[in-house]
Amino acid sequence: MGRYDLALIGFGGVNRALAELISQRGDSLAEELGFALRVVAITDLRAGSLVDSDGIDLAPLLAAEPGELKFAGLPGGSADPRNEWVIREVPADIVAEATFTNPTDGEPALSHVRWALKAGKHVCTTNKGPVALAANELKLLAADHGVGFEFEGSVLSGTPILRTAQRMFGGLEITGVQGIMNGTSNYILGRLEEGIDLSAAIVEAQKLGYAEADPTADIEGHDVQLKVMILANEILGADLCREDVFCEGISKITPEDARDAVSKGLRWKLVGSATRRADGTVDARVAPLALPGDHPLAGISGPVNAVAFHTDLLGTVTVSGPGAGRIETAYALLSDIIAIHQHHHADDDTAPLPRVLQETHRG
Ligand SMILES: NC(=O)c1ccc[n+]([C@@H]2O[C@H](COP(=O)([O-])OP(=O)(O)OC[C@H]3O[C@@H](n4cnc5c(N)ncnc54)[C@H](OP(=O)(O)O)[C@@H]3O)[C@@H](O)[C@H]2O)c1
Repeated sequence: MGRYDLALIGFGGVNRALAELISQRGDSLAEELGFALRVVAITDLRAGSLVDSDGIDLAPLLAAEPGELKFAGLPGGSADPRNEWVIREVPADIVAEATFTNPTDGEPALSHVRWALKAGKHVCTTNKGPVALAANELKLLAADHGVGFEFEGSVLSGTPILRTAQRMFGGLEITGVQGIMNGTSNYILGRLEEGIDLSAAIVEAQKLGYAEADPTADIEGHDVQLKVMILANEILGADLCREDVFCEGISKITPEDARDAVSKGLRWKLVGSATRRADGTVDARVAPLALPGDHPLAGISGPVNAVAFHTDLLGTVTVSGPGAGRIETAYALLSDIIAIHQHHHADDDTAPLPRVLQETHRG
């Protein structure tokens, strides 16, 4: 059986959850998928870096409280994340990038992805920054080096929006997409409908773990703006930058607005959309909209997310599911690894083989 060796860059909620999946379900996943997964390197700003080419024993790392984890002093460990060295030099098949999203220039994740692809390593990432700002460049780089660049988790975490559009809609023309792509703002709009004011609803969302300590990116729509760029570029073939996507958040919606809308059969939603215009260009925007009750996105409540695809032959097709969550987003990475396997290694005698098979052949 083949095996992929992974380097995890960033060891916060998502990559830690991926390590949990591998540690707890590795055997059954291998049986189902036909390949095994092994973590050979981890880097993290706070914990440092840890490298073991025979495979890191994940159980003790996962038993430690996240904030307490320190790699210095362990064999192969260092207090220094050593990202560039780990990504470029440590033998691994796949780099899983899950550091923080930087909406301005995508760094440091953008450099992490570039280093990995140039080193001939596949990349999977949940990080919206490099995908929204530089997907075309990174896809070319991946193709030049014969490796995969997968990023399903950058929109709606593990809910397969990008792959649904790219793989399941062959022969259809997608004329536009509209989505509720931020669970925090959607939860807050629901609470406004119940008469709770914005600041109290934000505190609630923080207590429930939906909202960050700084909720600005959720409330002002910036998180959705990056996702709209990704949808417009990946699904409608646009080449948009942030300035091309109009962005207005939900901070001006009051409980009175929300209740008044409900009384008229409408629901305020923060909608991200990308629509092909008659001249072929793409209009992309994020704005609160009062949707009629029969709109496919009107019934999406709480932290759930959804994307409606408008197509020529099927009309509107809506996919809904979780848009966040550490396990859900780790699943996106797993689905990316499966895609990498299918594109680059499965049933292809000429493709480079996963590591164990290479070792077997060498031996
Ligand atoms: N969690 C979700 O539901 C979700 C859903 C979709 C997409 N995403 C995206 O997935 C990525 C990871 O999310 P997460 O929830 O795992 O975030 P997280 O819990 O904040 O973890 C990020 C980790 O990366 C580390 N880090 C930051 N800069 C680094 C660097 N230069 N080198 C090495 N490590 C670095 C952080 O260390 P410190 O803590 O010391 O800074 C932290 O441990 C983010 O880009 C996020 O936007 C998350």
